[in-house]
Amino acid sequence: MSNFKRYLVTAALPYANGPVHIGHLAGCYLPADIYVRYQRAQKRDIKFIGGSDEHGVPITIRAMKEGVSPQQIVDKYHALIKESFDQMGISFDIYSRTSNKTHHETAAAFFKKLYDDGLFEEKETEQYYDEKTNTFLADRYITGTCPVCGNPNAYGDQCEKCGSSLSPEQLINPRSTLSDAVPVKRKTKHWYFPLQNYEDWLKGWILEGHTEWKNNVYGQCKSWLDSGLQSRAMTRDSSWGVKVPLPDTEGKVLYVWFDAPIGYISATKELTEEWADYWCKEDTKLVHFIGKDNIVFHCIIFPAMLKAHGGFVLPDNVPANEFLNIEGDKVSTSRNWAVWVHEYIKDFPGCEDMLRYVLCANAPETKDNDFTWKDFQQRVKGELSDIFGNFENRAFVLMHKLCGGKVPPLHADVFDDADKSLLAEFEITKGKVEESLENFKFRDALSEVIDLARKGNKYMQEKEPWKVANTLAEKPDNQKLIDNCIHICLQLTANLAILIHPFLPTTAKKMLHKMKVVEKMLEWENAGKTKLLSVGYSLRAPELLFRKIEDAEIEAQIAKLKSGLIKPVEATNTKPDNTNDAGKEPAPVKAGIVYDDFAKIDLRVGTIVAAEKVPKADKLLKLQVDLGFETRTIVSGIAEHFKPEDITGKQVVVVANLAPRKMRGIESNGMILMAEDKAGKLHFVNPIDAIDNGSSVS
Ligand code: 2FM
Ligand code: ZN
Repeated sequence: MSNFKRYLVTAALPYANGPVHIGHLAGCYLPADIYVRYQRAQKRDIKFIGGSDEHGVPITIRAMKEGVSPQQIVDKYHALIKESFDQMGISFDIYSRTSNKTHHETAAAFFKKLYDDGLFEEKETEQYYDEKTNTFLADRYITGTCPVCGNPNAYGDQCEKCGSSLSPEQLINPRSTLSDAVPVKRKTKHWYFPLQNYEDWLKGWILEGHTEWKNNVYGQCKSWLDSGLQSRAMTRDSSWGVKVPLPDTEGKVLYVWFDAPIGYISATKELTEEWADYWCKEDTKLVHFIGKDNIVFHCIIFPAMLKAHGGFVLPDNVPANEFLNIEGDKVSTSRNWAVWVHEYIKDFPGCEDMLRYVLCANAPETKDNDFTWKDFQQRVKGELSDIFGNFENRAFVLMHKLCGGKVPPLHADVFDDADKSLLAEFEITKGKVEESLENFKFRDALSEVIDLARKGNKYMQEKEPWKVANTLAEKPDNQKLIDNCIHICLQLTANLAILIHPFLPTTAKKMLHKMKVVEKMLEWENAGKTKLLSVGYSLRAPELLFRKIEDAEIEAQIAKLKSGLIKPVEATNTKPDNTNDAGKEPAPVKAGIVYDDFAKIDLRVGTIVAAEKVPKADKLLKLQVDLGFETRTIVSGIAEHFKPEDITGKQVVVVANLAPRKMRGIESNGMILMAEDKAGKLHFVNPIDAIDNGSSVS
């Protein structure tokens, strides 16, 4: 195999500005975990590093939206993300965070070394500035039209539509994301890293030295290097981030893409005193698992930083995946078009391995792929349950029925070619799985494991031990045929547990429990062996490994996604819980908007002409509201505060141009404005004097 003595595996540090969705898992965390679990089973010296990326514009913008501090945002989402990873079995050796002290010190020292070595260019330039909010507009603080594809909502660092990397100066008709103001130019000083100085070295290192990298990764690097590299600012005007470690730099922090990858180093420092062995010794294999939007940072910018600093190993591979779409559409957190991992765990408790299975079997390894709930259901049934689960279950059932619940012996005198060839498959499959995993082909590896179970089913079907059992009265010796079949099927079950373990760790452990063997059996060297279970050993009763996913569950998920009933992240419990005995404190005032934002909302006076409870929904009332020009159905979450009969005839104010939304199967066409008092009770907002329905409110 390789000459590497130790492995260091990193998975992109997600921004702690929202929960993680299944696209994150499929793109980065799941393949990383499978790789690490496999290498651990190979008894390799390996560390798996993760953590939250807690700096940069994604965090400060979210904090403004929620009206809380950046620290509150990262505290909340770091905890949520960490828990989701834990529950999905992503087995980091450390899951750290970049707001901590070790990281600030490590990143600042890294920057200072490059500065002291004279490797930055110090430049005063004119940058866009928002005079309303007194902010320099870098990265996502500025939007405008993409000069490449014409997308009117491109960001100052990237167009999400065409993927082009941009600078604010390239945007056509730039606007401030914060206030929508047209920005002005102001002078500011920053430290630039001259990437062009590393271009030749990068070309040699990647284009000649790493031709084995995945096509999508190599191709993106080549295109960056072919278009020529430029200096890139490594500092920003902001109060949130790692402070620039130089005198007179108040209000300046490190660029998030400078500090975040150093987070891998800081986290390793926190994990082990031997961190330098992993980061500085040439016989370390460093592998970065990321999504495709992170390729340039991990393949070009961070390696150039490491090279400039000196003394660090460089990544040996960066197996980036493409994106996972959902039901045919790109994931969008703002439109809430996503399957959130914490929601999945809540909706499908105990089914984490099923999601791991589907996300690996359908991973976007070479191109963007689609996740659909129907496909999820079908794969769980058709592949996991009907092939893998079914084989394992039949082996246990038949052993109990035909072999007294014990591992039967293998009889040489009736051992035939079919037996021999299935046993030989153990080692062959092990080799194929190994080869695929070493080369980051996780889909292929998983499909080999399922294929081995498929071979087991075929073998059992051909041997038909249940039929042979009917001949025993006449030919008692036929028990030997049954014994051989069940013996081999059980040894295959033990092999399947080892091979499936990196992919489906909980399932492998359930299998171990039923076989009454210890975890040590899962060591990779045991795969391929044909005598893992001792003859005469009694095993536990059969129990299905995977439950069925019902049509109703799938339909509910599709409906939830399409109707937006998975609450937008913006709307879910994003305010700090500040309830106390004296009642709620007033919520902090939200981030400022301009009149144009407000003017988009069409508020009208209406009268509730009918109200009824929505069956099986404690909180909802279905209202008919007369708006003068039409009567609307509006579903409102006020059933705990008002009886239907008490509110009929009341005048209310309605958001009349809100997009329709289905709630409990009823289309709601608008929203009633309500005020909430300190005790949490709701009150209608209405005109003091009765006025015509349909009157505008502004
Ligand atoms: O794209 C992202 O979510 C970034 N937060 C990834 C950072 S990876 C590393 F550099 F920390
Ligand atoms: Zn574009």
